[in-house]
Amino acid sequence: MMTLKVNGQDHRIEADADTPLLYVLREELQLNAAKFGCGLGQCGSCTVIVDGKPVLSCVTPLLLLEGKHVTTLEGLGSVEHPAPIQRAFIEEQAAQCGYCIPGMMMRAQALLQDNSRPTDAQIRAALEPNLCRCGTHMRILRAVHRAAALMQRADVSITEGGAR
Ligand code: FES
Ligand code: FES
Repeated sequence: MMTLKVNGQDHRIEADADTPLLYVLREELQLNAAKFGCGLGQCGSCTVIVDGKPVLSCVTPLLLLEGKHVTTLEGLGSVEHPAPIQRAFIEEQAAQCGYCIPGMMMRAQALLQDNSRPTDAQIRAALEPNLCRCGTHMRILRAVHRAAALMQRADVSITEGGAR
């Protein structure tokens, strides 16, 4: 038994210590945004954020996560209140089948937390581990730039609001 912190909430988990995080998220916590693609750490569809870094949840066992903070796409925003990264992907209509998109958004989110104004080359390099079989790469690229702009606008309005 261990405590797993996901999206700011503690969960008591009974699964074996070598159980991959992805299985716990989807089967025990009903957090289904992260997708099972290859199950081998080769496609990125299962990407979540752990302590600020993108992680492939299909090959990350629970035993590595004690005391860490896991964030899934559900933890960023909701349908009613989408986070900038979610809004940007919708506004750019970046999905075709959509299977890769949650993982893409999480990896892009981790990038933008580290680098608020990434270049095309930096976005391409950061998203390299995540595959898209539908070929929506150019839209994904535009969506990440749009998310960066939305986040900056939000920062400016918070700063302006605070200054009043
Ligand atoms: S399902 Fe995890 S990398 Fe493919
Ligand atoms: S939108 Fe289908 S795999 Fe990327």
